[in-house]
Amino acid sequence: MKGVILAGGLGSRLYPLTYATNKHLLPIYNKPMVFYPIQTLVNAGIKEIMVVTGGPHAGDFLRVLKNGEGLGVDKMVYSYQEGEGGISAALILAEKFAAGDSVCVILGDNTTDADISKDVQDFKSGAKIFLKKVPDPERFGVPVFENDKIVRIEEKPKSPKSDYAVTGLYIYDKKCFDFIRELKPSDRGELEISDLNNKYIDIGELEFSELTGYWRDAGTFNTILEAGNYWFNKSQTQLK
Ligand code: G1P
Repeated sequence: MKGVILAGGLGSRLYPLTYATNKHLLPIYNKPMVFYPIQTLVNAGIKEIMVVTGGPHAGDFLRVLKNGEGLGVDKMVYSYQEGEGGISAALILAEKFAAGDSVCVILGDNTTDADISKDVQDFKSGAKIFLKKVPDPERFGVPVFENDKIVRIEEKPKSPKSDYAVTGLYIYDKKCFDFIRELKPSDRGELEISDLNNKYIDIGELEFSELTGYWRDAGTFNTILEAGNYWFNKSQTQLK
């Protein structure tokens, strides 16, 4: 399985922090944000990773990640997303890199200490998503359940139908790229990852599990601080 980190965007919600660099290179305690999802992939045994980035500070990634060796990555490659086409539009840039393999995709601002190595090992085909109970599901992709099955995922719904967020960790087989080509832009003009997941629901191939452990989407001022505090506190307990 190959790993893909999606780390594009302008980071405009985080101005002025992102005037001078990409959001995913901002610090979460003692590491750049993007180190965390890369570590999650490496811990799951995935050592070939593509970082898809974009925006005016894409070159900064090379300065920070270099060839990935220091992070335990065997092969680190980069792609560049023109414009703001959405998460699914960024993912399709990894098609040649995936070369028919399945992909474990993590959004560059998602930080977790969950161990997904078993999910990676057990994955055969279809798609797998990871859910987490949150107090503010309207900020996320939200699953709609019927008889304990997910029948639909709604992207940032005004009235969420469950209190789960779809986290930014996904596993897809190679069909994902053909599905992305069928997607239509959403109301905000983006190819949504939730719509890709809905394609897998339509063919009955979306699996899910609840992510065990800490998880944050560190895409806001508050969650950057919260996530930083979490990793700081964790490092202190480990020292004791
Ligand atoms: C994205 C996805 C959303 C998902 C979230 C997880 O939202 O569109 O479905 O729940 O990541 O971090 P964004 O954070 O880009 O607004």
